[in-house]
Amino acid sequence: MSFQPPKGTDDIGAPQSSVWRSVLGEWEEWSARFGYPLVMNPIFEATELFQRGVGDTNEVVTKQMYTFTDRGGRSVTLRPEGTAGVVRAFLASGSLGAWKGAYSGPMFRYERPQGGRRRQFWQVGVEYLDVEAPPSDVEVIELGYRYLGAVGVPGLEVRLNSLGDGVCRPGYVEELRSFLRSRYEELCEESKPLVDTNPLRVLDCKICAPKLKDAPAMADRLCDDCSAHFKEVKETLTRLDVPFVEDHRLVRGLDYYTRTAFEYIARELETAQNAVGGGGRYDGLAEALGGRRTPGVGFALGVDRIILATGREPRSEVDVFVVSEVPAADALVAASRLRREGIRVDFDSEGRSIKTQFRAASRSGAPVTVVLRSLDEPVDVRTQDGLRVGVPLGELADWLKARSG
Ligand code: HAM
Repeated sequence: MSFQPPKGTDDIGAPQSSVWRSVLGEWEEWSARFGYPLVMNPIFEATELFQRGVGDTNEVVTKQMYTFTDRGGRSVTLRPEGTAGVVRAFLASGSLGAWKGAYSGPMFRYERPQGGRRRQFWQVGVEYLDVEAPPSDVEVIELGYRYLGAVGVPGLEVRLNSLGDGVCRPGYVEELRSFLRSRYEELCEESKPLVDTNPLRVLDCKICAPKLKDAPAMADRLCDDCSAHFKEVKETLTRLDVPFVEDHRLVRGLDYYTRTAFEYIARELETAQNAVGGGGRYDGLAEALGGRRTPGVGFALGVDRIILATGREPRSEVDVFVVSEVPAADALVAASRLRREGIRVDFDSEGRSIKTQFRAASRSGAPVTVVLRSLDEPVDVRTQDGLRVGVPLGELADWLKARSG
């Protein structure tokens, strides 16, 4: 059999996984700072959830889902995104009132793999449910913006649009449909069927969009309520110093959005996949699932793309490597003492030659190697910058902590 991972998936281990650990660790901090507790939902759900939630004519649902029948004869799907599952879980809990959740985990879409587009990819995201006032939209947008800035996404840009609601959007969609019918012959083969099923998505087509610059824009057709909502979102973003670019062509790839829609773009990412995240408001989603009206807003960020964009260098996750001249069990005793003091330690459990152990120490990237001659003698400490000094084992943890400041 082949040992390669399935097409469009990746095996991620050291040292690259150190970048993942830091980027995901910072997500835990930032999402908590904005008051979003961790929420963990199933990775597979009933297929119907995505058909009803994401939209059964949406490309993600019709072409990209990993759907199978389980042994009990139920149709289930590996989640292509996290929002529908979070809303389902909220409805199942019977909770009432404002609710927040942050998630982090793999999503699955059967797409043509390329740089930044994977079949299994990792999203971090938040959902803020049963809230409708503009400050909730703004808080969510700000969280994504601050986090992406903190992890160092270069050329970060927030693109913003309003997609209207059940009052103003149906009229706009009809107007857009008539416009697209009048230009039908100019559309690409993939967009033509969308004129009937989902005309908004045509605006998102990279081939057709440049030819449709004169298409009517939703932002010019907003009803009074949507218009006031959008205005407050923009004004408050400005007050928080969150820069944004209004983009009237932004429609998003999933069908549940109403009012605010946004994307985070890494302009410097040299790939067609430069959206590092996106989100928006989805006031009708809970009802589309058959639940009570539950307005909400959220986003998801693509961690694979964030890591491509930041170009962060992997770092050693070991502080100290113990090279031992005594049996490996003694090295483990020494390592264990240091680990209990909070030091990250590795050693060679096979008790191989000193030369082999030094090679392993160097491969580990640990900034400090200690040579253990006995558990009672001072260890010989060697740092990457050339320092050599003897330190009693019992004082080593403090010595290391003082050194790293
Ligand atoms: P989405 O725009 O489909 O939104 O995905 C969000 C982000 O996930 C994208 O901007 C991208 O960075 C990443 N992503 C999507 N597909 C792939 C892929 N095949 N490979 C690598 N990265 C990918 C959603 O998923 C919504 N659930 C976001 C949301 C939350 N809206 C409201 N709440």
